[in-house]
Parts: sequence; structure tokens; C-alpha cells
Amino acid sequence: MEKITISLIKADVGGYPGHSSVHPRLMEVADDSLQKAKKDGLLIDFKILAAGDDLQLLMSHRKGTDNEKIHKLAWKTFEKATKMAKELKLYGAGQDLLKDAFSGNVRGMGPGVAEMEFKEREGEPLIAFMMDKTEPGAFNLPIFRIFADPFNTAGLIIDPSLHNGFKFEIFDVIKHRKVLMESPEEMYDMLALIGAKSRYVIKSVYPKKNPKVPEEETVAAISTEKLYQIAGKYVGKDDPVALVRAQSGLPALGEVLEPFSFPYLVSGWMRGSHNGPMMPVSFKDARCTRFDGPPRVIAAGFQIAEGRLVGPVDLFDDPAFDQAREKAGEIADYMRRHGPFEPHRLPMQEMEYTTLPSILENLEDRFADV
Ligand code: 13P
Ligand code: 13P
Ligand code: MG
Ligand code: MG
Repeated sequence: MEKITISLIKADVGGYPGHSSVHPRLMEVADDSLQKAKKDGLLIDFKILAAGDDLQLLMSHRKGTDNEKIHKLAWKTFEKATKMAKELKLYGAGQDLLKDAFSGNVRGMGPGVAEMEFKEREGEPLIAFMMDKTEPGAFNLPIFRIFADPFNTAGLIIDPSLHNGFKFEIFDVIKHRKVLMESPEEMYDMLALIGAKSRYVIKSVYPKKNPKVPEEETVAAISTEKLYQIAGKYVGKDDPVALVRAQSGLPALGEVLEPFSFPYLVSGWMRGSHNGPMMPVSFKDARCTRFDGPPRVIAAGFQIAEGRLVGPVDLFDDPAFDQAREKAGEIADYMRRHGPFEPHRLPMQEMEYTTLPSILENLEDRFADV
């Protein structure tokens, strides 16, 4: 059977109000645009979703990853939505469309991209994770736990097909280079890198001697675009997305969701400049309100059927995650009480891309040697 490609491409093209959510009209414009592409046969299926102020295009097709037609469709769709955002004077209309003209691929132009191509299995569960108010490294902890931590994923111990572990492709987003590492053999070295989540970011995960999934197939893909590097200044956080496949030789659905029962700390939140808890929420609660947050994640669950996206199921719309949300609320209180102090505010090195340098510049003449 021909391979299927799933592309999740997202952008903030205007917030409603402020940076809190996506206006329903933007979702309608995006829906019209992708509906046409489906009629024309470019797409097999699609879903329009929203996480905080980020508009999400989830598409299935047979064109492979980094396909010019698919990327152009996404770019044009964001342009149309931007036009509507301007009409409604939504906040930061066109915020993530950082380049004027499309040049073959949306990577490096502002939108975030997670894509994977694979042969559909007998049953093919797929989870699309979408985060707002944080950076790509926010996926390091949950992706590590899903594919490498036996205290999270029981299957690593008791399912023979997962027992050989996984390979992780890790990007150094500062030096623009990458390294492929194997777990469990290199787990400690890997953690040395990915614990530094603002620099080393897991880009994709591959199986290892897995009887059910071929070695070259991606089983998890994460968007790693860093907006400040494209724009040269702070224009909003990257607000990453990820695609994760589950079951039949891969972690079970519940093992994929389990890491989010812990509201771990990520950077982002207000003005992209604060550490705060990652809160798993239902689609309807994916609105960033308190101090423009706290950072949120939604999970949309699908079964793929000949490319059709059967779903979504709103996976965090479950009382089993209430405890994580409550804890995130407590952590939000605790962190907020630090006000402008680190480690609530990000360290100097990471504030370099905000307006802080210009504040310090104004004080430059008044400094005397000690
Ligand atoms: P079922 O028996 O409901 O298919 O579940 C199997 C499983 O492995 C759950 O993690
Ligand atoms: P976004 O990156 O979601 O647009 O948020 C920007 C911001 O500064 C929130 O305070
Ligand atoms: Mg915004
Ligand atoms: Mg956003």
C-alpha cells in the first residue's frame, strides 16, 4: 500500500483577544481553503484545530514530507486567515508569517511544522499534540518519557517489540546541527543534551529493531522552528506541535498521554519570558488567560483509515487529568509570586531576544567600574 503523509502546520495569524485564542472566523476561512484542496484531490482529509492563539492545519495526503504543494497550501491558507484577522483587527494579525513571499517550503518562514510519512498499519492510532505559550524544547520531557522511560511506558519492559528501545534525532537549534542517539544505550548522554531544552530539541523518534514498525519510519515528529531566529527579535513564542503514533509495537495511547499527568515547568508564558507549568486541557479550555497562560497543551486523538482522519477525540477532556490541572494552578500561583524575579522570569541569556536588551542599553552610560 502507498505511504500516507500526515502534516501538521500551524501559525499564529491573529489573537482574539490579545494572545488568548483563535477567532472562529479564522477557522472557517481555513476550513474553506482546505476543503477546496480536498475536492481537488491534493488532500485526502484534514482537520482545523486551535490551541490558544495558534491556528492548526492537520492534513493527510500522499505527497510525502516537505512537499511544495502542501506547504504552499498551508501558506496560502494562513494568508487568507490573516486577511480576515486584519478585517477583524485581531491582535498581531499575521504575527507568524515572517516572510513576504512563499519560496517552496514554510520551514524558516514562521509557521511550525511536524510531518511524518509511513505505511498505515492494521490499526493506526495517531495523537496530535498542540502547545501554546512555550518553545519546542517543551516536548523533550514528555517525548523522552514516552519512548525511553520504563517508569512511564510499561511496554518498554513487557512488550517484546518495544524492548529494543528507540532512536532520537536531536537538533542543536543554536549551532544548526543534529545528532542521532539510541536509547537505552545512550540514555544518560541523551539526557545531558535534552535537559538543556532551550538548545537541544528532540526532532523525531524512530524504532529500533522493532518487528512491527520499519526502522526508517518516523514514529514521533516535533516542530522545532524558533521564531526569534527567523525574525531576529522576539515576535511571540514558537508554540510547538507534535505527532505521535501509538500501539502495535509502539507505546500504548495511555503511555503516550501519561507524561502530561505531571505539570512540568516550561519556558514561555507571559511575553515568552517566564517559566511556568504545562497544563493539559480540553479543546474548549485551550484559551490562555491567566498571565497569558499558563502554557497549555491539547491532544487530538485519531485512527487513520486509508488516510482519513477518523476523529478527533479530545483526549485531555478527562477527569483523570483534573489533578494535573489543579497542580498546574498551584504551581502557577507559586511561580507568579516571584514577580519579575528569576527563575519565574527567564535567565538573562534567554531574555536576549526580548525588549530587555534595550532597557539595559539605556542604563549603559550610568554604570561605573567597581
Ligand atoms: P485492550 O485489551 O482494551 O485492547 O487494551 C490493551 C492494552 O494494551 C491497553 O494498554
Ligand atoms: P504567542 O506566542 O502565543 O503569540 O504569545 C505571545 C505573548 O507574548 C504572550 O504574552
Ligand atoms: Mg499571539
Ligand atoms: Mg501562540
